[in-house]
Amino acid sequence: MKKKMHLETQLVTAGREKRYTQGAVNAVIQRASSLVFDSVKDKKFATANRAKGELFYGRRGTLTHFSFQKAMTDLEGGAGCSLYPCGAAAVTNAILAFVSGGDHILMTGAAYEPTQDFCNKILSKFNVSTTYYDPMIGAGIAGLIQPNTRVVFLESPGSITMEVQDVPGMIKAIRAVNPEIVIMLDNTWAAGVLFRALDYGVDISIQAGTKYTIGHSDGMLGTAVANERCWDRLRENSYLMGQTLDADTAYMAARGLRTLGVRLKQHEESSIAIARWLSAHPLVERVNHPALAECPGHPFFERDFSGSSGLFSFVLKNRLSDEQLAGYLDNFTLFHMAYSWGGFESLILANQPEELNEIRPAGKVDFTGTLVRVHIGLENVEELIADLEAGFARIA
Ligand SMILES: Cc1ncc(COP(=O)(O)O)c(C=O)c1O
Repeated sequence: MKKKMHLETQLVTAGREKRYTQGAVNAVIQRASSLVFDSVKDKKFATANRAKGELFYGRRGTLTHFSFQKAMTDLEGGAGCSLYPCGAAAVTNAILAFVSGGDHILMTGAAYEPTQDFCNKILSKFNVSTTYYDPMIGAGIAGLIQPNTRVVFLESPGSITMEVQDVPGMIKAIRAVNPEIVIMLDNTWAAGVLFRALDYGVDISIQAGTKYTIGHSDGMLGTAVANERCWDRLRENSYLMGQTLDADTAYMAARGLRTLGVRLKQHEESSIAIARWLSAHPLVERVNHPALAECPGHPFFERDFSGSSGLFSFVLKNRLSDEQLAGYLDNFTLFHMAYSWGGFESLILANQPEELNEIRPAGKVDFTGTLVRVHIGLENVEELIADLEAGFARIA
């Protein structure tokens, strides 16, 4: 039996078959709308095999896309990978592929806000209803399943508040009620590789590749890796919805994979060091880093994840006034404010508890202080800590 490679080696080698690299180290960048057939026979063959990696028409992809799709499929252990122009498109198209009018979906109440907006503003127009559940519900999810429930959507850790879900426990409970339900996970925090979602029975593992896969804050990408059961439907529905990616971004994404192993190790090491430092800080109430015991769902992180990435949040003992918050956030040297994360640079954002309550449809937050979310980049840890310490001095 072929020995399974370590993740670092897989990340370096995945999708680099000679057909894609044509003798170079990296896959070729093949930009194309038209792909030219030499004969009627070739055209027929391409048409028959258009979903199986034969060059057919640009929207189905070129060698650059096929290489990256093969890499993602192998890395996440699926039957195939659909590509999208951004993470939000991956989320929405995965859901759309599996629901019809009159259906019902279960959505985690800690989902990324635009995912919730999609349910509330778009799915509702097509008479698809959404019930939000407490991310820590575990096997209790079974009690929310209705006869018309088609999709259960997870996001673990949850956006901003970082609850780690009991994915295997939830899946067992869901399957016991209705094995047909399609289970999807926004797996962006784990970069698709630190939590092997499909091995745990998730049907579709979705990522905003914009974050760790691209890794340099200079491209947008969505990926969805599906198991055998869901792959044909996900692929054909996404194709019909016109979902595609340009070859240059597919190339950048594949290049991102090559350094993802070392980047993740550093994000992990630095973020845990900073999380521990914050945890001991007198102005900090709680640190929501999945690797720390005080984070909701930490035992599930310990059990199910092979490592950590660099995004987490912490709650201050006090709620800062608008003026204090501006003085705090406007004056960092290394931490910049931006909505994204997953790149090489450190980022910071803050939310007041009442703002979070507005985007927590299943249960209010259990704190009253200001929440700060940080993404720990690849800078020197001591310099990052000094920047955070100076921030605390501004609000002490
Ligand atoms: C958890 C999560 N999922 C999905 C997305 C959407 O990704 P994109 O911005 O590439 O559409 C984001 C973006 O911040 C995210 O944080």
